Amino acid sequence: MNILVTGGAGYIGSHTSIELINAGYEVIIVDNLCNSNFIVVDRIQEITGKKVKFYKIDATNKEELKKVFVENKIDAVIHFAALKAVGESVEKPLEYYSNNLINTINIWELMKEFNVDKFVFSSSATVYGSPKTCPIKEDFPLSTTNPYGSTKLMIENMLRDICKADKDFNVAILRYFNPIGAHDSGKIGEEPNGIPNNLMPYITKVAVGKLKELSVFGNDYDTHDGTGVRDYIHVVDLAIGHVKALEKLNQKPGLVTYNLGTGTGYSVLDLVKSFEKASGVKIPYKIVDRRAGDIAMCYADPSKAKEELGWVAKYDIDKMCKDSWNWQSKNPNGYNSEEKILETVK
Ligand code: NAD
Ligand code: WQD
Repeated sequence: MNILVTGGAGYIGSHTSIELINAGYEVIIVDNLCNSNFIVVDRIQEITGKKVKFYKIDATNKEELKKVFVENKIDAVIHFAALKAVGESVEKPLEYYSNNLINTINIWELMKEFNVDKFVFSSSATVYGSPKTCPIKEDFPLSTTNPYGSTKLMIENMLRDICKADKDFNVAILRYFNPIGAHDSGKIGEEPNGIPNNLMPYITKVAVGKLKELSVFGNDYDTHDGTGVRDYIHVVDLAIGHVKALEKLNQKPGLVTYNLGTGTGYSVLDLVKSFEKASGVKIPYKIVDRRAGDIAMCYADPSKAKEELGWVAKYDIDKMCKDSWNWQSKNPNGYNSEEKILETVK
């Protein structure tokens, strides 16, 4: 089967491409490289020993995107391509709505035109807004607090409408919790532009001396140590979840929705401690004010994915930290060879 992976040069898309190839699928990547690097495609090929077709195309350009459908018989689409920085989405909402919604609609229209009936969507735990309780189940109320999250919820809502009208369209909405870690080889991993917003990439940049110290956003939450609790999941487990979702779509289930998380919550300080243990590197930190929009606790009930997909996250927090460190320490400048200092390291 030929799988079109949009955003396949990105963090989760690259790991998923590898797992798809390992499972015997042919992978065709479309990415405009706005948040990734062409080297990733080489590394996917190096790791798997298989050729990957790559198109540098902006998926908001429907005419360009159509070429991919004309030149390849696509069997299913896994759609990662999106802008994903929460803070930036508040500053530039139009860019987020335009990029994330238009590219998605283009893909659906082309899927319809070329009779492609299987679609996997990268959604996010962000669609649960501020959940009243944890663990979070798929039928919890949905709401959002920022434009990025709104694009995810809008696309989910559109998918629910489309599937009501078109009984032949098969869709898996996957709601990711907090992906961290990297491929075991240390050849691919997360490489955000500029100063990272997310916790693990910030920690790894401190560990390689590119940032001075971690700011812990608040220690007065109602959690076991006062710092925010999240459901960190190894990116390879997440990637395997996509292979399982594709298998499910082959059974023509219509629209299905799954949480992809481990079901266990760790605090910011738990993650710092695990990282220090895995890397042997001390992470200096200071406690600062809460970050606007943050919630105290967010972790999944992943039992639906276990029952219906036969998927369970198998890597623990130590392995996640070990692999994040393996990637960052082998690639202190990410995919760029030149030295980058992100802030003055005193
Ligand atoms: P990423 O930025 O590493 O990957 C996204 C890729 O999409 C990038 O390579 C980027 O260049 C590409 N892209 C963006 N707009 C495009 C366009 N118009 N045309 C073609 N390519 C385009 O991000 P990621 O962490 O791998 O996230 C993948 C998906 O998972 C996104 O949809 C994101 O919203 C979602 N998600 C991520 C997280 C997370 O914490 N990383 C959590 C939940 C959901
Ligand atoms: C985790 C914890 C912070 C950075 C975000 C998006 C969400 C999803 C995943 C895409 C929190 C604390 C963080 C730092 C800190 N992305 N923290 N110092 O906020 O759970 O989720 O990424 O869909 O939509 O909102 O992840 O990694 O930013 O934060 O103390 O420098 O670490 O307060 O408790 P979050 P995160």
